[in-house]
Amino acid sequence: MDLGIPQKSAARSIAKQFADRVRTAPDRQLAERLSRLVAAVASLVEEERVDRADLRAIIEFVTDVGHASDARRSEWVLLADTLGITSLVEAQVARRPLRSTPNTIAGPFYRMDAPARKNGESISIDGIGEPLVLTLEVHDLDGDPVEGALVEVWQANADGVYENQAPDVQPDGNLRGTFRSGADGRVVVRTVRPKGYAIPHDGPVGELLKRLGLSPERPAHLHFRISAAGFQTLTTHLFDSEDPALDADPLFAVDPVLVTRFTPCGAGGYETSHRFILARAHPGTEDA
Ligand code: BEZ
Ligand code: FE
Repeated sequence: MDLGIPQKSAARSIAKQFADRVRTAPDRQLAERLSRLVAAVASLVEEERVDRADLRAIIEFVTDVGHASDARRSEWVLLADTLGITSLVEAQVARRPLRSTPNTIAGPFYRMDAPARKNGESISIDGIGEPLVLTLEVHDLDGDPVEGALVEVWQANADGVYENQAPDVQPDGNLRGTFRSGADGRVVVRTVRPKGYAIPHDGPVGELLKRLGLSPERPAHLHFRISAAGFQTLTTHLFDSEDPALDADPLFAVDPVLVTRFTPCGAGGYETSHRFILARAHPGTEDA
């Protein structure tokens, strides 16, 4: 009952007590961050009038997330991804100058040991799917081509499945490869048009997305990692402009400059071109 008597904020009191208790903690950063977390959560609990049943439901949810995780699948990573936290951290740690290509998450299907390919070679070993030719350019912020950049590419097939998700169906190394840019900064990759796919949604995160009316479908895309001496390594995507899921990527990786049109060409094939712009490394930092 609201008696019109000003109430003391229990949230503020808890937050203050917590902060006081950890004031001399040996790990200062942990103490400060946890104090801020406790203060933020406590005020949310107060504003939302969280009750015992709510708290039980939250505890059950995080317990389920833990139980759904094992050595092959991390439901926690998926939760951070679908809440936008992974993309936010990525954007923050890999902040680039304006006009350079945005860095995005790599996802779980990257392999370091992709087959080396010659410029213009195909990465489709099984040849299944609609042909797609990518003409890529690697440039610096001054508009000059970057020669000798290592361009790693990986993608799902025309059914939306990565080779390492289905090792008994697709040949080893299918739809992934590494290329070197020429003196003109160019790399031509022959491949097949990728299809979008759903992120794993048979666990508690999938249940959460369902309750929120959110789709687990990622828009069709290709992944790239581009490294060159003197530049920050760029991990990024190219998205299919015609995919209807473009506006609701569950992983928040879509940036308008990463959207490209696959233009029909030849017999049932497509082509697209894209320029990646690398930012200079900062020697002595993680960006080097
Ligand atoms: C991916 O795009 O490959 C991906 C990223 C995060 C979770 C699942 C898939
Ligand atoms: Fe992907």
